[in-house]
Amino acid sequence: MKIAVVGGGSTYTPELIDGFARLRDELPVTEVALVDPDEGRLALIAGMSRRMLARAGQPARVTTWTDVAAGVAGAGAVLLQLRIGGQAARNVDETLPLECGCVGQETTGAGGLAKALRTVPVVLDIAAKVREHAPDAWIVDFTNPVGIVTKALLAEGHRAIGLCNVAIGFQRRFAQRLGVDPGRISLGHVGLNHLTWERAVLLDGVDVLPRLIEEHGDGIAAEIGLPAWVLRHLGVVPSYYLRFFYEHDAVVAEQRAKPSRAAEVKAMEDALLEIYADPAEDTKPELLGKRGGAYYSEAAVALIASLAGDRGDVQVVNTLNNGTLPFLDDDAVIEVPATVGAGGATPLPVPAVEPLFRGLIGNVSAYETLALAAARHGGADRVRDALLAHPLIGQATLAAGLADRLIAANRDYLPWA
Ligand code: G6P
Ligand code: MN
Ligand code: MN
Repeated sequence: MKIAVVGGGSTYTPELIDGFARLRDELPVTEVALVDPDEGRLALIAGMSRRMLARAGQPARVTTWTDVAAGVAGAGAVLLQLRIGGQAARNVDETLPLECGCVGQETTGAGGLAKALRTVPVVLDIAAKVREHAPDAWIVDFTNPVGIVTKALLAEGHRAIGLCNVAIGFQRRFAQRLGVDPGRISLGHVGLNHLTWERAVLLDGVDVLPRLIEEHGDGIAAEIGLPAWVLRHLGVVPSYYLRFFYEHDAVVAEQRAKPSRAAEVKAMEDALLEIYADPAEDTKPELLGKRGGAYYSEAAVALIASLAGDRGDVQVVNTLNNGTLPFLDDDAVIEVPATVGAGGATPLPVPAVEPLFRGLIGNVSAYETLALAAARHGGADRVRDALLAHPLIGQATLAAGLADRLIAANRDYLPWA
């Protein structure tokens, strides 16, 4: 199968290549088409990718393309992992909201909205080219904010599924704590992308979450940056993105006192690019493990293998609600376990969601609807409305001021501004 990677010049690409090499029996890839506007980056990443595949004895060809239509032509799957504006725009997403007392994060709150405004129009353009030149391809979207981007793709009828590594990360780390093979663990994972809770952890079908929290609650709490009583009292494991809600003011104080994640990542990327440029390097560098994308290649390979091979197994994905969470619109995008086969993803039924989680999910889902409207149609009013609906902003004067500042800072990337 030919797989196209849009944003193939990303420093993350070797993570994906490592997965294609290690898991070649699960997913026989014949061509990896790297698509990116930056020719220098393409050459560098392609060189590293070729050496990694050769070392692993994986015979796939690596091709490079600056033209999306040509790059995706004939692909069976198209992965989207682009970042409009690079780390510089991310840095603005992470710092500008701080000046207004709001969390600075690339997917949550005002920063996530700015990222959606920059990204949705570009992704929809790319998807239109996929529809024309690779009509049978599945679009697998890693591009953040995954919930809003996937909602944009599905609203236009594209064959798209959104993917994030939070669930697979929990599955792998819970398995380590329990000393079992990860394949024996499945999750009662519910919510929206970057707004999820684990309400059950099934080991061979038996819920071991109470025991996990009892025996490992302190360790897990430290990992996600929340007080252990939250896990013990609620009886769930929130994802680390819930920290931006449950400890919002503490996070703002921390963020004001240290460099942004974008600045840290920029330094790592510079070092990674030097490694990739070295013709002697042919394995995934350890430094890549310091990025947030752990297990991302394994999630991607599993998803594409199930779509292509009609496996019908259960994976956590972002897809249409269609009544799964009855308190949300049918066209909301939710992140839940779903059966994955040739026809796409079908969510498993979800047990009734408690008010404590349901309230926040409903609130953020409504924000996502407004954010998508702002990204598609533009306008300061729509941007302001989305911020007003967001539970971490939600004040009129604040929302109006932030809207103006976000638009001014992102003007070069907004077709309507
Ligand atoms: C996790 C999230 C991704 C996000 C990444 C950021 O993997 O699930 O959605 O893009 O972290 O990692 P970074 O190293 O760029 O901060
Ligand atoms: Mn770019
Ligand atoms: Mn994610």
